[in-house]
Amino acid sequence: MADPVSSDLAALVAAAQADFAAAGDPAALEDAKARYLGKAGVLTARLKALGALAPEARKTEGAAINAAKVALEAALTARRTALADAKLDAQLAAEALDVTLPGRGAGLGGLHPLTRTLARFAEIFHSLGFTVADGPEIEDDFHNFTALNTPANHPARSMHDTFYLEDGALLRTHTSPVQVRYMEEHAPPLKIIAPGRVFRVDSDATHSPMFHQVEGLWIDRDVTFADLKGTLTEFLRLFFERDDLAIRFRPSFFPFTEPSAEIDMSFGDGWLEIGGSGQVHPNVLRAAGIDPQQWQGFAFGMGPDRLAMLRYGIDDLRVFYENDLRFLAQFR
Ligand code: DAH
Repeated sequence: MADPVSSDLAALVAAAQADFAAAGDPAALEDAKARYLGKAGVLTARLKALGALAPEARKTEGAAINAAKVALEAALTARRTALADAKLDAQLAAEALDVTLPGRGAGLGGLHPLTRTLARFAEIFHSLGFTVADGPEIEDDFHNFTALNTPANHPARSMHDTFYLEDGALLRTHTSPVQVRYMEEHAPPLKIIAPGRVFRVDSDATHSPMFHQVEGLWIDRDVTFADLKGTLTEFLRLFFERDDLAIRFRPSFFPFTEPSAEIDMSFGDGWLEIGGSGQVHPNVLRAAGIDPQQWQGFAFGMGPDRLAMLRYGIDDLRVFYENDLRFLAQFR
C-alpha cells in the first residue's frame, strides 16, 4: 500500500520549490520560506502534529518530515544564491566599463602657430647675428612717428589708421619705434630684431586690428643696401627651407628710410609683398643721438602673420585670432 503521508509531503516539497523559484527577490523568498518553515508554516504544523501519532507512525512520519525539511532548505539556499548572483550580474552590467573606449585625456597643449613663427624668426636671425629687443605696445607720438622722420601733419601719418588713447598716447602702429628706443639706449654697432604686436584700425580677411611685425635694424660703419638684400634673402630661404626662393626689392617710400624698398617674395606665378625696408634715414639716426656721418645701416619691417599663412597654407588671417581648438590643435 502506498504511503499517503510521504506522497503528501512530496507534493508539499514540490509546491514549496515552485514558490521559492517564483520569488523574484530576497524579501519574497523569505515570505515563501515562512509559509512552510515559519512558526505557522505548513511543515511546522506537520511536525507539531507528530505528538498525536502512534510511536511507529511517528517514527516514519518524523523521518519523512525531516527529509522534506532538508529538501526545502536546499531549495531555499539554491534560490538565495541564484538571487544574489542575479543581483551581482545586474550590478556589473550597470557599472560596465568599456576598456576599449578611447581615454578622455587632459588634452595636450601646444604653441600657437604665430608664437612658433616668431620663435622661428628669432632663431634664424640669431644665427645671422641679430639679438632680440622689445618695446612698449602703448607708445607716444615721438617714438611712433616724430623720431621716425614723420613730424606732425606729415602725409605719411595717414598711412596708419591709429588707435589713440588718452593723453596723446597711442597703440603703436608698427614696431619701428623699437628702433628709436634701442638706439637711444645703446651705442652702435647695433644688430637687432624686434618682434611684437602692432595695432591699426583695420579688419578684413587679410587685416586684423592687432597683428604682428618683426622689425630689423643693423647699424655699423658700412652696412649697405647689399647687406640688406643679402640678409633678407638668406632669412627667407632659411625660413621657407628653399634655396630657389626669389626675392624682389621694389622701390618704395617710407619716411624713415632712404632709399626705401618693398620686399616681395615669389609666390605661385606672382609676387607677394611681405614687408618694407631701406637704408635708415639720417634724420632717424640723429633723432636717436647717433651721428649719421659715422654710422649707417638698414632697417626692415616684416609681417610674420603673412609669412605664417604662406608657410602653413592658410588663406584667412582671422583664424589665427579666433582660438578655435579645431584649428589650433593641428599645430601641436
Ligand atoms: N614700419 C613700416 C610699416 O609698418 C614697415 C617698415 C618699412 C619698417 C621700412 C622698416 C622699414 O623698418 O625700413 O609699414
